[in-house]
Amino acid sequence: MSEREVMDRLQRAEILRFTTAGSVDDGKSTLIGRLLHDSKAAYEDQIAAVREASERSGQAGMDLALLTDGLKAEREQRITIDVAYRHFSTPTRRFIIADTPGHEQYTRNMATGASTADLAVILIDATQGVVTQSKRHGFIASLLGIRQAAIAVNKMDLVGYSQAAFETIREEYAAFARGIAFRHLTFIPVCALHGDNVVRRSPRMPWYGGPSLLEHLETAPLGTDAPPEFRFPVQYVLRPTADFRGYCGTIASGEVRVGDEVALLPAGRLTRVRRILGPCGESDHAFAPQSVTLCLEDDLDVSRGDMLAHPTALPWLAHELVATLIWMDTEPLRLRRPYLVKQTTNLARGECLELACRVNPDTLAREAADTLRLNEIGQVWVRMLRPLLCDAYEQNRQTGSFILIDPVSHFTAGAGLITGVCHPQRPLRLVGNGLTAGGNLTPQSGQVGPAERAALLRQRPMTLWLTGLSGAGKSTLAYALEQRLVAAGQACVVLDGDNVRRGLNRDLGFSPQDRSENIRRIAEVSRLFNEAGLIAITAFISPYREDRRQAREIIGEDRFLEAFVDAPLDECERRDSKGLYARARAGQIPEFTGISAPYEPPETPDLHLDSARGSPEELVGQVWKHLLQEDIFLYY
Ligand code: ADX
Repeated sequence: MSEREVMDRLQRAEILRFTTAGSVDDGKSTLIGRLLHDSKAAYEDQIAAVREASERSGQAGMDLALLTDGLKAEREQRITIDVAYRHFSTPTRRFIIADTPGHEQYTRNMATGASTADLAVILIDATQGVVTQSKRHGFIASLLGIRQAAIAVNKMDLVGYSQAAFETIREEYAAFARGIAFRHLTFIPVCALHGDNVVRRSPRMPWYGGPSLLEHLETAPLGTDAPPEFRFPVQYVLRPTADFRGYCGTIASGEVRVGDEVALLPAGRLTRVRRILGPCGESDHAFAPQSVTLCLEDDLDVSRGDMLAHPTALPWLAHELVATLIWMDTEPLRLRRPYLVKQTTNLARGECLELACRVNPDTLAREAADTLRLNEIGQVWVRMLRPLLCDAYEQNRQTGSFILIDPVSHFTAGAGLITGVCHPQRPLRLVGNGLTAGGNLTPQSGQVGPAERAALLRQRPMTLWLTGLSGAGKSTLAYALEQRLVAAGQACVVLDGDNVRRGLNRDLGFSPQDRSENIRRIAEVSRLFNEAGLIAITAFISPYREDRRQAREIIGEDRFLEAFVDAPLDECERRDSKGLYARARAGQIPEFTGISAPYEPPETPDLHLDSARGSPEELVGQVWKHLLQEDIFLYY
């Protein structure tokens, strides 16, 4: 085979990216060295150097760890390298190892090295058994989105290659791992020092019928998750001459072609890509993680920190994030103190407002805590001084992660994985070019207008938006009102949370962003009903002020009436008509409004209904009176 053919084949070969994690002295370096050596992936000169160094230190044979630890000195001085990437290949696959050294800073290293891996190799020392760190490694790998773990139970020689010792570790770790989201979990007994089950299967463990570590790596499934959408955080605006304007940056995710429609955020403008300039010149296609310069069809005001994104799958624009935070600093986390939040090309000032819980890595239990210390993991609520364009980490590892920087020491204090945002300002209203999101859509309108519909139904349609805690009486009031309206000959419809969530919104849960989307859809549906001439009554907790404000904007100021169905939490809990409060208190329902999720009461509702005092009939009367005042019934 010619050199060129070999290169071609290699380039087309599948790539498996994996990370390795182990505690000090687990033998991780030796294992990787063994993998490189026995699979003939190390270069002759490297091996010769290692042989020589081993002899110099008086060691019999080769210290394979030296193959991996070449950069150790730099790492120990914390100069530049936290993660070393190593490439090797076999006839079936190419591999990229993100090797994260196993000293006490392992969390930091894992978090940075693991973020693009398909698989994590976690080492457990057979003589030590499962230790907290082994669990923590698995937990962090799963948080980082790695769905496969290969547990290499090392130093089997020191436990006499005992099957019982291996099984004990396997059972204990498998029981723990049930609590985390691995799709594939494999256990392999190895001895890195002698090479047992690393590349070749070992005759010393005939009781083990599985693959060697390398065989496993050669056959493990590759990531098949749908690739994330196009995101291009603008790093630099290039204007060498008056007639050239290009935007430089690294494509964080997805791909882009000349002619593609893109949204410029946060401005919300739509335009198209006119040219793509890559390192090798002009091109009609580019993809992550390439660094490119993009030229757009329209002359827009773009600056560093803006983002170009796929117009039908937009990121969030949010001031407040909910995130899993992995703490990396020896200084503990300080709540309500300034930090710098670095996310894509943005650096914003921010603070952690709240630590919702700390996760115990041994049991995965969520515990109350008032700070996070080195290597601890918790759920936090972060607020920035200016909004960031971001995604959930699960959707997009690049735009869904950030680091917190200590503003004084400039150390990386923590790594955050975004799980949600509070009050997202979705830049959904896109403008530009006569296009709208989703392609070439042109708004259509018929000949029947609001006046004809009003005459037909003898009413001015509007939306009565009921908001309040679960159990405050929103649904009861909504249906009582519906009955009264229909009895009076008015056409109306009720939209109720518990119903809509079984159909239209059955894909949504109760995270802040799902609730926000719930409310957005309901607002759009209410608007459609109103446009059809109907009165809409909505009964949704709608706990966030910003979401209700957005609903008002979607439906239209003159058609939107906000009614606060106000009953104090203890009253709602006493009623507990659906038994949900009791379950929420018992920790069985996460993010339950009033218990473990916030409710933001309206500051100036159009109607304030005291449902702890007034009976449903009294409340209906109060609303009726208001509707009369609003002049919505037309008597002609
Ligand atoms: S909202 O917050 O997104 O507006 P919505 O009104 O649609 O909520 O749904 C609330 C109903 O869902 C509640 O009345 C209750 O029956 C049920 N529910 C289930 N889980 C939760 C939860 N975690 N928080 C609040 N309500 C919940």
